[in-house]
Amino acid sequence: MRTLALPTAGNAGAAWAAYGARAGLEVVVVMPETTPSVIRREAAACGADVYLVPGSIADAGDVVRDGCDRYGWYDASTLKEPYRVEGKKTMGFELVEQLGWRLPDVIVYPTGGGVGLIGMWKGLDELRAVGWLPADAPLPRFVAAQSAGCAPVVRALAEGAERAAPWERPETFAAGIRVPRPLGDFLILRALRETSGTAVAVPDEAIAATMELAGATEGMVVCPEGAAALAAAATLRRGGWIGADQTVVVFNTGTGLLYEDSLPGRAPWRLEAGEAITVMVDGPQDGAAPRGPREGGRPGRG
Ligand SMILES: Cc1ncc(COP(=O)(O)O)c(C=O)c1O
Repeated sequence: MRTLALPTAGNAGAAWAAYGARAGLEVVVVMPETTPSVIRREAAACGADVYLVPGSIADAGDVVRDGCDRYGWYDASTLKEPYRVEGKKTMGFELVEQLGWRLPDVIVYPTGGGVGLIGMWKGLDELRAVGWLPADAPLPRFVAAQSAGCAPVVRALAEGAERAAPWERPETFAAGIRVPRPLGDFLILRALRETSGTAVAVPDEAIAATMELAGATEGMVVCPEGAAALAAAATLRRGGWIGADQTVVVFNTGTGLLYEDSLPGRAPWRLEAGEAITVMVDGPQDGAAPRGPREGGRPGRG
């Protein structure tokens, strides 16, 4: 094989482009035109040929399949190749190692194609099989976090289905979990059911608010997908599904810096050369600027 091709919601394309560069292989990446521009450019910066298509990763998949048929490229679509799930097992290995060889009670993961969740499920099971964890250790309850704008797994789990029906109009700014028909749906659903887990749909407004919260309270610039997982964990804690004394691992799968247009926070104030900062101690609130001009308003600090 000289050329790998894959459809991607974005980040996998950049990752495969990097591996392809190291391996001396051509990489063709097809992604939705709505993919944040830094992610597109990351794949291109690693030498990949990047194509944009209207629609979702499912539409990108059709284009890749056609290219593979015509040019004999290797189809590196999620779960059509055997390696990615093996790589994602390392998330399970690392979390157990970092917890001192204990399993958490709950793992919350932002689920798109599902390889991360399936990989961790497989990896933890293998740790039991080789005796690095007790053979009878109960696996953590897995939680799939999705956007309410594209939640095929949440719907299928609620309906008791073994496969997830395609989501009709996938809409979310959390690009990585905008996957309307995950190929491994039946494996994701098995992982959730066999671990007594669940799936949670988070509205995009809550994802955005959680990005802001993570930044302003923890100093973590999380990606929208990670914020969806964090919001799902909060929902489950509020509802009592997660107990106060439980160990919960929430995966933030990327940096928010890749999503420039969705970054929370106030716009900076612009000072003229030599101008000092003037702070109004008692307001105004509601974003009205105490003086201008500036790129955004903020209440005074005093
Ligand atoms: C940032 C981010 N989080 C989560 C996911 C979903 O991962 P998975 O396909 O393993 O469910 C993706 C996939 O593209 C992603 O880019």
